Amino acid sequence: MEKKLKLGIIGLGTVGQGVVKVLSGMHDIEIVCVAVKNLSKKRDISVDSITDNPLDIVNNPDIDVIVEVAGGLEVFDLLKIAIRNKKHIVTANKELLARHGSELFDLARKNNVVIMYEAAVAGGIPLIYPIKTSLSANVFSEVAGILNGTTNYILTKMEEENLSYDECLLKAQQLGYAETNPKGDVEGFDAMYKIAILSNIVFNKRIDIGKIYHEGITNISSIDIKLADEFGYKIKLVAQAKKMCINQESDMLDIRVHPVLVSKNQSLADIKNATNAILLKGFPVGEVMFVGAGAGEFPTASSVVGDILTIKSEIKEKNKILPMTVCHHSEYAKQINIDDTVNCYYLRINAVNTPGTIGKIGLACGKFNINLSCILQKGVNDDRSATIIVITEECFEKDINLMIKDVEKTSEIKVLNRIRVM
Ligand code: HSE
Repeated sequence: MEKKLKLGIIGLGTVGQGVVKVLSGMHDIEIVCVAVKNLSKKRDISVDSITDNPLDIVNNPDIDVIVEVAGGLEVFDLLKIAIRNKKHIVTANKELLARHGSELFDLARKNNVVIMYEAAVAGGIPLIYPIKTSLSANVFSEVAGILNGTTNYILTKMEEENLSYDECLLKAQQLGYAETNPKGDVEGFDAMYKIAILSNIVFNKRIDIGKIYHEGITNISSIDIKLADEFGYKIKLVAQAKKMCINQESDMLDIRVHPVLVSKNQSLADIKNATNAILLKGFPVGEVMFVGAGAGEFPTASSVVGDILTIKSEIKEKNKILPMTVCHHSEYAKQINIDDTVNCYYLRINAVNTPGTIGKIGLACGKFNINLSCILQKGVNDDRSATIIVITEECFEKDINLMIKDVEKTSEIKVLNRIRVM
């Protein structure tokens, strides 16, 4: 009889329970033990062996693979022990990989084990393994996508139901998308971890997440969504990484997460609700887009169990498994500061409705070499102020910031929002 693959699972939350349910019909895989924080917590599944001491799992010589679906940074030391004990790792932990991946991957290589992490980026969408294998012939120039389902759900609802940010956040929390403390999603941290992981494998460079610019969706109001719509755009939280040549220095990476106005003609504009989408550009493939469920019990379990089965199919044959999935690079990327990036901008300005105000805005743009694509006053508000929309042509981030400071010197003009245009 074929030897069973023996698993130790750390974490039995939504994803952990999904993994146990999906594995329940697979007789060649055995869950030896599951580690949880709170043994008395009510769960809708039961497992044969459960512990609140994860060391029992990472030190258990019977276990071949550790499946870590607990999340957070507390598991870092546990996974290091597991790797030193020659256990393969399957993890969904994006924050851990984005912050400490280098150390874990180095340790895994030394100990001849693999770390599989399909579920860490975009839940159920196969991305990591395809990039490392089927797309390995490519030199990539760009990866961009909607990597956070919660924020995409909130922005979709704001647009479709004309609701405020707070109302949509509450809906997202009621549906279980957003946490009680939604900071990780709405302030762009979750998408930042994911784009760091993707940039690492797409560009074969280590990434310093401290140098990734990130901005969330908390400043987006329904008025911005409505105005963007009138100008032919949707507002999306986009994570992107591009190879650039700056000051004759090639192979610089521009990695960032922030809201953008996406033209309705672009495919990312059609991605609604909690769906994720990732666009890759490279040679020879050209453009390729992956779309699907970026979170949830079963989509995420699909990726976790896929990784487990990939390990299982190899482990019986060989001592060294899945060499294409092993991290072989150790050089850090040169990352561009957001001030040095070039973008088009949407500005929503509130101004006192006096003669010459639009002229002042135009002059400030001219002073910093900013060319306008559009400037429009939306009538006069009840309080006699004017809402003025500006869309610029491409200019440096540092210049738009200087222009905003300059134009706000007069108390009559206030820039209420500034959103980059894709
Ligand atoms: N919180 C994430 C999201 C899912 O909303 O997309 C887990 O990475």
